[in-house]
Amino acid sequence: MTDDVLVVHGGTPLEGRIRVRGAKNLVSKAMVAALLGDSPSRLFDVPKIRDVEVVRGLLGLHGVKVTDGTEDGELVFDPANVESASTDQINVHAGSSRIPILFCGPLLHRLGHAFIPDLGGCHIGPRPIDFHLQALREFGATVDKRPEGLHLSAPNGLHGTKFALPYPSVGATEQVLLTAVMAEGVTELRNAAVEPEIIDLICILQKMGAIIKVHTDRVIEIQGVPKLHGYTHRPIPDRIEAASWAAAALATRGHVEVLGAQQADMMTFLNIFRSVGGEYEVTDARPPKLGDPGQEGGIRFWHPGGELNAVALETDVHPGFMTDWQQPLVVALTQARGLSIVHETVYEQRLGYTEALNSMGANIQVYRDCLGGTPCRFGRRNFKHSAVIAGPSKLHAADLVIPDLRAGFSHLIAALAAEGTSRVYGVDLINRGYEDFEAKLADLGAHAERP
Ligand code: EPZ
Repeated sequence: MTDDVLVVHGGTPLEGRIRVRGAKNLVSKAMVAALLGDSPSRLFDVPKIRDVEVVRGLLGLHGVKVTDGTEDGELVFDPANVESASTDQINVHAGSSRIPILFCGPLLHRLGHAFIPDLGGCHIGPRPIDFHLQALREFGATVDKRPEGLHLSAPNGLHGTKFALPYPSVGATEQVLLTAVMAEGVTELRNAAVEPEIIDLICILQKMGAIIKVHTDRVIEIQGVPKLHGYTHRPIPDRIEAASWAAAALATRGHVEVLGAQQADMMTFLNIFRSVGGEYEVTDARPPKLGDPGQEGGIRFWHPGGELNAVALETDVHPGFMTDWQQPLVVALTQARGLSIVHETVYEQRLGYTEALNSMGANIQVYRDCLGGTPCRFGRRNFKHSAVIAGPSKLHAADLVIPDLRAGFSHLIAALAAEGTSRVYGVDLINRGYEDFEAKLADLGAHAERP
């Protein structure tokens, strides 16, 4: 633990330009999709983050040859020799990521059986997998829960089904897509999640030969096909990382240009950013032409000076305000005048990190009630899932321990915004989802170093 610490000298505005690459929450799923092809796939702009390494390791264990392509960030997947891996080998990856659950459908198609270890990912609530298992059973899979993990098989193959999710879960929607594309017959999924990362996964599957219709009202219809081929794809940029740097610019009274950030995927964030008092400018990409080097697109975010405004927001599934945008933005809200309200409706326990902000001088109270928004699933279940942030508060340095990925980034922002020297423990967790974050901090003029 002692090596895994960043010493942050706060109080300097972040100034400069950084770049985001392919979205973590698409790239990892695109890698799993490569298992379904009968020829190699090629994925560009893959960030160097821990989650990618975990999926790469798991693909390797199942016989998929993963190699680096010629372009920086390009990965090539060759699924010609997909094979079973032993439970011991797979269990090495237990607890390190949530992605293994998405191997179920592809492995059932390719091998007729699958073993899924205990899942990991961030500790932001119980994170059950009941929707996933229910969906897989609907397709005809049998699920055998044993102490070491889940053993699945499909003795009679997988068949299309009509299924409604109890909640528009991102992962369960992806599970259904990755299973239905090669199941026999038609699948109709109701109450599906329609996040941009899911639409991008659908684009990948379509490139592979799948037939998928996205209807209105969260209905997705998939017509199974007997075989899929490899894809070539450049993923959508990471809108969570882009928003995290935007929030860091606002909280430190700085100015950060995020190359690669895309307006269309961040509209809801941009509306709130502007309501809080932040400024932004969108730069459209321009391809190079003779005599014109062209221009990379992105969004410039800055604090225009003066006071920030309190806002009320509630996190929701797309097109709502993402739950992963909430923690970094709350640090900026500690600097806004008045009472801001955040109602977290996606995860029941995603406000624990506010205690650390309070230890730095913030004034945040958390409540069990559904404050400032529509009543949600957690209102009557005793979860502290609404926060009232009273500001502005002067933040001072503290010793912090990072609890999960997004909360970790908010701790980092708070340390950068605070006066004095903070020690942030457990920063390696941030490498799960933020590529080269220490180099990016240095590029933005932050004073932070490993002791
Ligand atoms: C994905 O998680 C992301 N992870 C999360 O990002 C993100 O916060 C979340 O979607 C919501 O946008 C990846 O893409 C790897 P869900 P996922 O299924 O798919 C409940 C990050 O930091 N639920 O949409 O696991 C669940 O408990 C991470 O990048 C069930 O009850 O999220 C939650 O309350 C954190 N049963 C809600 O649904 C199930 O079987 C939404 O979860 C599945 C989910």
